[in-house]
Amino acid sequence: MASLSRGDLAGRLAATLNKWLKRPGARNRSDVATGFFVFERLKGMSKNWRPATQLVHGGTLRSPYGETSEAIFLTQGFVYESSEAAEARFKGEDDGYIYARYGSPTNDMFEKRMCLLEGAEDARAMASGMAAVAAAVLCQVKAGDHIVAARALFGSCRYVVDTLAPRYGVECTLVDGRDLKNWEAAIRPNTRVMFLESPTNPTLEVVDIAGVAKLANQVGATLIVDNVFATPLFQKPLELGAHVVVYSATKHIDGQGRCLGGVVLSSKDWITENLQDYFRHTGPAMSPFNAWTLLKGVETLPLRVKQQTANASAIADFLAEQPQVAKVIYPGRADHPQADIVAKQMTGGSTLVAFEMKGGKDAAFKLQNALDIVKISNNLGDAKSLITHPATTTHKNLTDEARAELGMSGGTVRLSCGIEDTQDLLEDFAQALRKVPA
Ligand SMILES: Cc1ncc(COP(=O)(O)O)c(C=O)c1O
Repeated sequence: MASLSRGDLAGRLAATLNKWLKRPGARNRSDVATGFFVFERLKGMSKNWRPATQLVHGGTLRSPYGETSEAIFLTQGFVYESSEAAEARFKGEDDGYIYARYGSPTNDMFEKRMCLLEGAEDARAMASGMAAVAAAVLCQVKAGDHIVAARALFGSCRYVVDTLAPRYGVECTLVDGRDLKNWEAAIRPNTRVMFLESPTNPTLEVVDIAGVAKLANQVGATLIVDNVFATPLFQKPLELGAHVVVYSATKHIDGQGRCLGGVVLSSKDWITENLQDYFRHTGPAMSPFNAWTLLKGVETLPLRVKQQTANASAIADFLAEQPQVAKVIYPGRADHPQADIVAKQMTGGSTLVAFEMKGGKDAAFKLQNALDIVKISNNLGDAKSLITHPATTTHKNLTDEARAELGMSGGTVRLSCGIEDTQDLLEDFAQALRKVPA
């Protein structure tokens, strides 16, 4: 095949672009003007598509090159056709990109795809789950405000509300989030933020999101839900009345252990009024490379979560029958302590299982060390099954008393199920348990 010279390529590109720019309907509302180019937001995208379709096609910006896979735009800045165009962009007269800390095309695709899945109007992609949590909380509080949060929180989230925010004059009350009466007793006229995760890390407690949202509305507080453990497939906090949803995209959304990421989703108004300036001026933006990786990750989210949940459910049932196991907590089982709330607000169980070994820390360590397929790691949501002993890893900074309050003992183990064959995982647990005295 004759090779194309640089001149040929440039000519073809110019002709394509010309045609593209002059086509009927160019620069309509679903396109994003970026200066010299116009990217097409794929037509026919429908809010009515089911998640599996949305996660493959939703939000795609196809460039004039017509690529099938979403493009990575690893650029810090953007150039303008003219000084006037630059001025107009800065005045907000067109919605093109300005600087990658504010937004960029690959991140835009990831944000739109997440919005379609979550049913949110707007989103901002962040460098990690913790960047997202910190931004969602801190962007809207000022000295004199008050936060109410569930005490069962991932350690770093607890640090943000209970240690960091108070340094800036924002008081925080932690409550046992399982009982709505505790939330009600803690709210004050100056409560600005209510924060929870459900199911919780690691003991898979469940909080009544609709109930807490109702209380938040009574005082005009913003309810932020960290929906990492439920995944966007099994729980829709915005539909339950929450105002903001946050994810560590590091977990199921990537799902393949590759990169960190986070996302904050809410209404357009909330993002514009609260998050936009904080986001632009404090710089937690996600790398476009990670946005691309996560765009590829979410394409397979439903397939992975389905297999992970099937594995978790089978292992939870298996563990519940074992003499070495004192108790199993799994949101998909009828014996979950809050099975009624699970049924009310979740459409699936969980990819995680918490259980307690009768022999305490010693038995938990023996079991973890004896597993072959299942790896010891504090991460979760991965295609590989991962197991951790929270008291000595993720929750080691809590006092024994605080851990006991959360239902965590030396024997508590958290399993994040991967996508391996169910039977192989069951056999792995069976062989490992044979090495742990009953
Ligand atoms: C519930 C929850 N929220 C937030 C985070 C923080 O996410 P990242 O590690 O992406 O910052 C984690 C991490 O494990 C988590 O489990």
